[in-house]
Amino acid sequence: MSGIRPTGFLHLGNYFGAIRNYVRMQEEFDCYYMVADLHSLTTHPDTRELRTNVHRVLSENIACGLDPEKAALYCQSHVRETSELYLYLNMLAYKGELEKTVTFKDKVRQNPENVNAGLLTYPVLQTADIIIHRAQYVPVGKDQEQHLEMARNFVNRFNHRYGNVFPEPHAFNFNSELIKVPSLDGSGKMSKSENQMSTLYLADGDEVIRKKVMKAKTDNGPTEQNSPKPDYIENVFSLLKLVSDKPVIDHFEMAYNTCNIRYGEMKNQLAEDMVRFIAPIREKTNHILHDEAYLRRVMEQGAEKANQSAAATMQLVRQAIGLNYY
Ligand code: TRP
Repeated sequence: MSGIRPTGFLHLGNYFGAIRNYVRMQEEFDCYYMVADLHSLTTHPDTRELRTNVHRVLSENIACGLDPEKAALYCQSHVRETSELYLYLNMLAYKGELEKTVTFKDKVRQNPENVNAGLLTYPVLQTADIIIHRAQYVPVGKDQEQHLEMARNFVNRFNHRYGNVFPEPHAFNFNSELIKVPSLDGSGKMSKSENQMSTLYLADGDEVIRKKVMKAKTDNGPTEQNSPKPDYIENVFSLLKLVSDKPVIDHFEMAYNTCNIRYGEMKNQLAEDMVRFIAPIREKTNHILHDEAYLRRVMEQGAEKANQSAAATMQLVRQAIGLNYY
């Protein structure tokens, strides 16, 4: 089970960090992937763009290979019982631990005039999303580790107080090493909040991709054979390794090690390989985005699967809590 907030365009970091894992997991597990539209209300109370954003994130995920026939792909707000479970879990979550959450503190800092209770209990709702399917594996990035640790705490409190209903959820990744998708300006990784010019979006046009790649920082090249690469050069190689073929990578590694590298040529190659990688995803996304009838069918089908699983769990939950009076 995993959730994606509908708050912007997906970028290369989302693809290699998360979506690729989702696509692989759907072959081996019974998967639930959810658009976290309710979570977005904690920080984005203006809902005028919500519908477009939900459609976009669904289309982008499908274009990347997520298959609505294999995995349940649905919207959080279409599973009403999640809100019920969230209420029960709120009685097991303490103000002190919620206030200590790193993501909460960050959001308070970013937006001090909207510190609402939904923001404080964000990890409680996230726990409800996960355990409503009694899910055990949650493909998420490092930034979500703390939320999962909190989810395990809430689960253990529930099980301890009312009986064993939920398995502990854990972060899941196929690769032991997390893949780094560096930003194009040589600092940090690609992210939604970073400078737009140093992040490659799955919606970027060919010319925009070329322009962004060609602006990546380089220098005059090494003067000594086999010298270590400065960070910003390592980053360009990292990106090449994500999208280029082995002979191409080997060619530029060799050129670097023998001091024959021409960075202009390398970035040209990287730009073309990026275009080759992103263009089909972008085109597929736009195609899906225009087929509203299809998107509706996907959401209905996903909601049906998710609601079945949720209803079964909630029966167990109400029984366990003791909300059975007749
Ligand atoms: N908090 C997650 C994020 O910001 C999104 C999310 C909501 C989620 N519900 C979830 C992730 C359930 C995993 C499981 O990316």
